[in-house]
Amino acid sequence: MSNVTVEQVAEAQAIAPIVCVQNMYNLAYRHDDELIDRLAEEGVAYVPFFPLGGFTPPQSSTLSAVAERLDTTPMSVALAWLLRRSPNILLIPGTSSVAHLRENVAGAGLSLSDKDFGQLDRIGR
Ligand SMILES: NC(=O)c1ccc[n+]([C@@H]2O[C@H](COP(=O)([O-])OP(=O)(O)OC[C@H]3O[C@@H](n4cnc5c(N)ncnc54)[C@H](OP(=O)(O)O)[C@@H]3O)[C@@H](O)[C@H]2O)c1
Repeated sequence: MSNVTVEQVAEAQAIAPIVCVQNMYNLAYRHDDELIDRLAEEGVAYVPFFPLGGFTPPQSSTLSAVAERLDTTPMSVALAWLLRRSPNILLIPGTSSVAHLRENVAGAGLSLSDKDFGQLDRIGR
């Protein structure tokens, strides 16, 4: 299912098993926080579209500071935050640039400390 509300997911689940939900979600846009937690408990995948904000990548001094500390880029950190956010989150960041592709793949190899995760978490809360 894509572009759905919490209510629509519940309605669909009463009709058929749902395996994956794709909605807009990223470090700064956190409308689906509750839905993601509920789907994780149910073993349903969640694929955030615009994981990097689409045409307006997230900018934040916290994001930049964490990236500097880890000697990486803000976009790698933004993706690492999503991967740590919940085990049911699967990422498909789109790019037309090989440099960005490398940066995005690097996000999967980053491990954020609890402190960094917490600071990043507060950006969109
Ligand atoms: N279900 C839906 O309604 C829906 C809606 C939108 C998208 N989607 C899907 O969701 C997936 C992800 O969406 P998306 O690719 O549009 O969103 P996205 O990954 O958040 O954003 C893509 C944009 O970010 C830029 N970008 C990518 N990596 C970057 C980086 N490391 N640094 C700076 N800019 C970067 C890209 O430009 P460059 O090309 O210059 O890197 C492009 O402009 C896609 O598979 C898409 O088809 C679904």
